[in-house]
Amino acid sequence: MKILVINGPNLNMLGLREPEIYGKLTLDNINGELVDFAKENNVEIDFFQSNHEGEIIDRIHSANESYDGVVINPAAYTHYSHAIGDAIKSVYVPFVELHISNIFVREDFRSKSVTAPACIGVISGFGDYSYKLAILSIINYLKSKKNLEGYNDIG
Ligand code: DQA
Repeated sequence: MKILVINGPNLNMLGLREPEIYGKLTLDNINGELVDFAKENNVEIDFFQSNHEGEIIDRIHSANESYDGVVINPAAYTHYSHAIGDAIKSVYVPFVELHISNIFVREDFRSKSVTAPACIGVISGFGDYSYKLAILSIINYLKSKKNLEGYNDIG
């Protein structure tokens, strides 16, 4: 089983960026933990981060051929990138959306996700542990895929 983790804009600044909201770990720290976590769960894992919408869209398209599942933190694009939402809908590989912070208790604009409707589900508010929860969710989904037929009829 092969999983891709996509991180959107400004997540390369984790550790420095508003640590009171996003914690003190850098993206490299988090990815390092996820490599170990993936090994423990017998899955292969790759990482992609970009600050550019088009690059994220291209990576979503190419993920279709090479991954069983994708975990994505679209960061601020969550709230307005219909292009990323459409990209997720345009591929067959299942996505889980995650957020480090709880987007539902912050500024009003953050409580709306335009990308979530294209995903199986959303995890939000568990700090860097949100990444592990998202990975576990996609693994569980892939293992029990048969029981969940129909989710992909989105759009
Ligand atoms: C975020 C929440 C978004 O609102 C914000 O723009 C981010 C990070 C999170 O992980 O909590 O960049 O996706």
